[in-house]
Amino acid sequence: MKTRTQVAIIGAGPSGLLLGQLLHKAGIDNIILERQSGEYVLGRIRAGILEQVTVDLLKEAGVGERVQREGVVHHSIELVFAGSRHPIDVHGLTGGKVVTAYGQTELTRDLMDARQAQGLATVYEAADVSVHGFDGAQPVVRYRKDGVEHEVQCDFIAGCDGFHGVCRASVPKGAITEYEKVYPFGWLGVLADVPPVSPHAIVYGNSDRGFSLCSMRSMTRSRYYVQCPLEDKVEEWSDQRFWDELRSRLDPELAARVVTGPSIEKSIAPLRSFVAEPMRFGRLFLAGDAAHIVPPTGAKGLNLAATDVKYLAGAFIEHYAENSAAGIDTYSQRALRRIWKAERFSWWLTNLMHRFPDTQGFGQRMQEAELDYLVNSKAASTALAENYVGLPL
Ligand code: APR
Ligand code: PHB
Repeated sequence: MKTRTQVAIIGAGPSGLLLGQLLHKAGIDNIILERQSGEYVLGRIRAGILEQVTVDLLKEAGVGERVQREGVVHHSIELVFAGSRHPIDVHGLTGGKVVTAYGQTELTRDLMDARQAQGLATVYEAADVSVHGFDGAQPVVRYRKDGVEHEVQCDFIAGCDGFHGVCRASVPKGAITEYEKVYPFGWLGVLADVPPVSPHAIVYGNSDRGFSLCSMRSMTRSRYYVQCPLEDKVEEWSDQRFWDELRSRLDPELAARVVTGPSIEKSIAPLRSFVAEPMRFGRLFLAGDAAHIVPPTGAKGLNLAATDVKYLAGAFIEHYAENSAAGIDTYSQRALRRIWKAERFSWWLTNLMHRFPDTQGFGQRMQEAELDYLVNSKAASTALAENYVGLPL
């Protein structure tokens, strides 16, 4: 069965859904092809901190109502090391900028609900999606649904299909360069319906037992992480073992305030830095995790996806509304400038806050000196704060 659209979007995660919404508002016809079910996509527990540019983009896409009502604004973060806690006044150091705690699951749900309400074409459980002819003027996407083969003729393909997607994998090897760094540990994450220990400041800990993070999804739902060895299995971590380990990595006052409860989600995720260059191949464009991955330490993954989509939507709108190729021709270079600076920040904060198996002696002293300098220097704290809220577009 053959259909036609202007932009074929592969992937119904945050990148694909946000792009679809922005294109629809600009009158650009698009279809989203997603290999999983909607429930499966919503079941992924991911990020939870939005930069202001991401919140503004949700408003622009017409789905900003709930995040403004339910999102929890944070003016500061806290660093815990050497047994004490140090606030970083992000709001004050950046001339009033903030971040908003709002789960990626909720953001995805808002985008899915809006798309469904507008009756836009989303094919879930699309099998064997493949992309063709993107080096020419008439790209084609093929997929199978309920045993029926489909072909979508389009002007452009947006690869929003994540790190393991088909789009980047379909680019000829000689046309793409990949940069990667894998970290020698993982993050064990727990979601629990208990009040957050620090509802107005995300807490990042560096203890001799490793990294810890205290975050939230709402005033009644908390998100916690502890660094763990890559070979650990989640079955080895009972809830009690997790809560004890988390408390052991916090300062005594904060540890005493942690409200524990049964985990509703518990998983171990590896950490990696990854960038694919370029992000455009003829009429195929990569956006979000399809093009880059950051270690979650700096909370940049979702926000980078949002700014890729902002640039890509603008490029398509310019093409159709002004018959201009300027945005399309500069998309990759423009997105990569922001991506590499967020990759640097995420890599830097990961190195600062985690214990590495091969770092002892001098390396450990360097980490401790940098933490001491960071919390006692306005210039160093400002550099952290301006990266944390998101560098200017
Ligand atoms: N065909 C169709 N869909 C696919 C295919 C394929 N071959 N491969 C992957 N997908 C879908 C996945 O099922 C997923 O729903 O593409 C979607 C990609 O979504 P994400 O992986 O969430 O990536 P993105 O939308 O860029 O969002 C980035 O998600 O992983 C987090 O930390 C990341 O917060 C960031 C955000
Ligand atoms: C989260 O809430 O999942 C979260 C918060 C801050 C981070 C990473 C993850 O740096």
